[in-house]
Amino acid sequence: MPDRTAPLPRDAGSRPRILVADDQADVLEALRILLKGEGLEVVTASSPSESLSAVEQGDFDVALIDLNYARDTTSGHEGLDLLTTLRELDATLPVVVMTAWGSVEGAVEAMRRGARDYVEKPWDNERLLATVRTQAELGRALRRSQLLEGENLRLKGGDVPELIAESEAMRPVLEVIERIGPSDANVLIVGEHGTGKEIVARWLHAVSERAPHALVAVNAGGFSEGVFESEMFGHVKGAFTDAKTDRVGCFELADGGTLFLDEIANVPLQQQAKLLRVLETREIQRVGSAKIHRVDVRVISATNANVGELVAAGDFREDLLYRLNTVEIRLPPLRDRLEDIPVLAAHFLGQQAARYRREMEGFAPGAMEALLSHSWPGNVRELRHSVERSVLMARGRRIEAPDLGLKRRDDGSALIEELTLEEAERLMIEKALDRHQGNVSRAAEALGLSRSALYRRLQRRDSE
Ligand SMILES: Nc1ncnc2c1ncn2[C@@H]1O[C@H](COP(=O)(O)OP(=O)(O)OP(=O)(O)O)[C@@H](O)[C@H]1O
Ligand SMILES: [Mg+2]
Repeated sequence: MPDRTAPLPRDAGSRPRILVADDQADVLEALRILLKGEGLEVVTASSPSESLSAVEQGDFDVALIDLNYARDTTSGHEGLDLLTTLRELDATLPVVVMTAWGSVEGAVEAMRRGARDYVEKPWDNERLLATVRTQAELGRALRRSQLLEGENLRLKGGDVPELIAESEAMRPVLEVIERIGPSDANVLIVGEHGTGKEIVARWLHAVSERAPHALVAVNAGGFSEGVFESEMFGHVKGAFTDAKTDRVGCFELADGGTLFLDEIANVPLQQQAKLLRVLETREIQRVGSAKIHRVDVRVISATNANVGELVAAGDFREDLLYRLNTVEIRLPPLRDRLEDIPVLAAHFLGQQAARYRREMEGFAPGAMEALLSHSWPGNVRELRHSVERSVLMARGRRIEAPDLGLKRRDDGSALIEELTLEEAERLMIEKALDRHQGNVSRAAEALGLSRSALYRRLQRRDSE
């Protein structure tokens, strides 16, 4: 027999909250005393509508609901309707129904409609408590596993990579990270491709009080119209044809932590409006659900586009920009911070040498000269790739200039016939993105690609 006094397993010390719905005041009172005596938090409702508003306002671990209400005391329709609506609002909320003694049909119908269990009235205290306890535990486990599933999909490793910044040009960046990193201010990070926007976002999160919570990184500009809302805000099972299960959105995943909205300038106007509303109210609704969740999220966003120009052209909402850029960090291109090149190069050399198990001593003078005179259109990412290549190409322990594979250019641009197919593709894509101020839809159109095909190529470029 279960130990009645054993406390329920709890998440972060919170007491399980139980919603009890019945239209008989004495039943509510008796259940309240019983459950409270077990250390549970109890909210009572005397009608279906009261129950719904309670669930819309807060999260519960279990709903214990009667099937029969005053309007129609015996058929159980009101209770069954309440059950259905509760399931629609939050499919992870375990519902236990109370049925009249001997009315097995009602219980069966309730289970068919998604009730997790039932208790018969008059109830047996011990059995009722055991049922509620089990359902609270299962419900929490279910919610936890959903959260973890979502997190595992999105979180890219926990450790913060080293941020190398020795140059004068980077000093303001470090100062801002130090000064406003710990605050809750929304930050917009702007800079060319590969300048380290994501690394800076990770640092801002790491130095804040939100660090123990998630940093959820999402390519905000990469979703088609239909998917955006469900990725951002989540959906409930059945919200649309493919919604086979409930799904937690990025905002909920980042609750208590930081949401990193990458490629923010590529979010289409319609989706910008939805983002703005959530940033203003801090409330989200999963697609297909009426239930409102409050979220506590700090938003860091990044772009390589000139958002000011996009605002002027009517392609980006000014009010959204003001929500996002409470603080703005500008990352200088690598060509404007030459002092960082030797340090970054040595850092990447160490990393790549370890990765490929090669013993390397450093760069020959000619190689360092080549590194310092290159214009680095792909910035730090290009430097990393170049050092990686050199580790693979080097014959001895020192990197020589040709190992780096850098093309000498008179006008700063490469000759197309000197490039590999992949490099040429990357160049075309970057040029198209530049021409269209980072607007992916337009760049894709100019290249004769679909938006998603261009995204696939951009992502391939980013993977190791
Ligand atoms: N200051 C730095 N110190 C160490 N590594 C860096 C630094 N800046 C960038 N990197 C590395 O360079 C690569 C590109 O950086 P990151 O992904 O942050 O750039 P980004 O600005 O987000 O680029 P994109 O606009 O293409 O998304 C990453 O591997 C990152 O770890
Ligand atoms: Mg990035």
